[in-house]
Amino acid sequence: MEEENMGSVKQQLSKLFEVSLGAVVPDEWNVKPLVAACSGNFGDYQCNNAMSLWSRIRGNETEFRGPPSIGQAIMKNLPQCEMIESCSVAGPGFVNIVLSNKWMAESIQKMLTNGIDTWAPRLKVNRAVVDFSSPNIAKEMHVGHLRSTIIGDTLARMLEFSNVEVLRRNHVGDWGTQFGMLIEFLFEEFPNWEDVGRQAIGDLQALYKASKQKFDVDPAFKERAQQAVVRLQGGEEKYRAAWVHICEISRQEFHQVYRLLGVHLEEKGESFYNPYIPGVLEALSNQGLIEESEGARVIFIEGKNIPLIVVKSDGGYNYASTDLAALWYRLNEEKAEWIIYLTDVGQQQHFEMFISAAQQAGWLPADDNLYPKVTHVGFGLVLGDDGKRFRTRSSEVVKLVDLLDEAKNRSKAALVERGKASEWTKEELEQTAEAVGYGAVKYADLKNNRMTNYTFNYDQMLNDKGNTAVYLLYAHARICSIIRKSNKDIEELKKRGSISLDHADERVLGLHLIQFAEIVEEACTNLLPNVLCEYLYNLSENFTKFYSNCQVVGSQEETSRLLLCEATAVVMRKCFYLLGITPVNKM
Ligand code: ARG
Repeated sequence: MEEENMGSVKQQLSKLFEVSLGAVVPDEWNVKPLVAACSGNFGDYQCNNAMSLWSRIRGNETEFRGPPSIGQAIMKNLPQCEMIESCSVAGPGFVNIVLSNKWMAESIQKMLTNGIDTWAPRLKVNRAVVDFSSPNIAKEMHVGHLRSTIIGDTLARMLEFSNVEVLRRNHVGDWGTQFGMLIEFLFEEFPNWEDVGRQAIGDLQALYKASKQKFDVDPAFKERAQQAVVRLQGGEEKYRAAWVHICEISRQEFHQVYRLLGVHLEEKGESFYNPYIPGVLEALSNQGLIEESEGARVIFIEGKNIPLIVVKSDGGYNYASTDLAALWYRLNEEKAEWIIYLTDVGQQQHFEMFISAAQQAGWLPADDNLYPKVTHVGFGLVLGDDGKRFRTRSSEVVKLVDLLDEAKNRSKAALVERGKASEWTKEELEQTAEAVGYGAVKYADLKNNRMTNYTFNYDQMLNDKGNTAVYLLYAHARICSIIRKSNKDIEELKKRGSISLDHADERVLGLHLIQFAEIVEEACTNLLPNVLCEYLYNLSENFTKFYSNCQVVGSQEETSRLLLCEATAVVMRKCFYLLGITPVNKM
């Protein structure tokens, strides 16, 4: 069957209003329809152009006497269509739209037949880079990296769903002066490091700490470590091999976390871009952008009082030179139109600086509504119950694998307490505990506006009431069980049944369902996963209201209502998928 994607409800209405506006003010250029969903008593959507149009044309010779009369004209010129039940003009020219129940019901039915992908939003971008997770080799992968991983994965999933090709980049910190210290320490403390393998070297963080300590107190070691950097960067084999070995150990640790979270990433670490740095800097230098300052080479950025250092006074490259080269590569080699970086807001300055440098160099349009576009997606801190940065009791950094295990174990304990150990197979218990535990961690992070700090609290995130993954997974499992217990073949119903939205609570649920596409679109455009979480939570609330006021099984409307249940479950599952949460069919 031909899959059709008409765009979101908002997009479809915008097109209608565009036609109308073209007829109302044919001489005005670039009048973008302003259409928004509204929850007032007057309608489901509103077009808000009248007021701003009035201020544009009031001086001219015009037939209109004010915003209300423009509103009237906009309404009268709307093309005939099935989606609109009625319109009215309110206040200063707001055009209110009530959608047709029949049209809404048919949209939902079509989605059930053709699949939820027909509700994917359409974005203006074909290819994007999402640079996320990006921990540093031999240093700890901390909760900041966990946030970056969770938020980045969701954004990547939402963009992929919207038919954007996403390059999921793990920009690991695998280059830099710390490797001299690490390698030299490895050689001195583990002379036969090649044979002893990773068990003996064990904890790289400990190795990092110990070598740093030696570096700080032992000038001779410091000297040798600096030599080691030069030899590594010069490509000397033994040094390269040790570097590869260290990276490999770290990588295995990172992968454990990615495996548990079900996150897929492609590593292109800092070292990858190293060979591109000289050429990129030379080009910038030829454009006259690089200057000498206090022995370093820098780019002065308009509006900033400190320059961006691109070559340190010792001649070495740094984080910024690497990021400039990586950006160049992503724009020119990978032809990405949107490049998205996820780090905590603490790095905002760094991103502002090198993005401005790229603008000054003419790599990016000055107007950041145009593509190619570069966006830093910042996020706040993860706090402990004490309101301070999240740590373990011994004030050590929390190992992410342990943190995820803890969530899983607690969710398992809750399931056991509810008698599931005897009801389910061991495997079912494990799988559900994992889905719920990891899902809870992800959702607790994603539901907040990413800019705010949030408190990491197991009891809260694993609560089965309130806005939590547990509650939502329950809600979904309950819908599945309603359908199962009806003993109806839902595939059969999809083929011959039809939906009606006559009851007020059916209509509210139906309207919410058909707004899925524009919600994902908004979450993508503003890079805000919490928008999708809020949608999902409200969907579940609307379903509950529907289910408590509308009898499903055994009612006259059984078929229609079962189809509504199914549509809700389908949309919920897509939300879970986009949030990286695994739904379970029973709980
Ligand atoms: N490795 C960095 C850190 O741990 C994050 C890298 C983010 N990506 C980038 N292209 N700078 O803070």
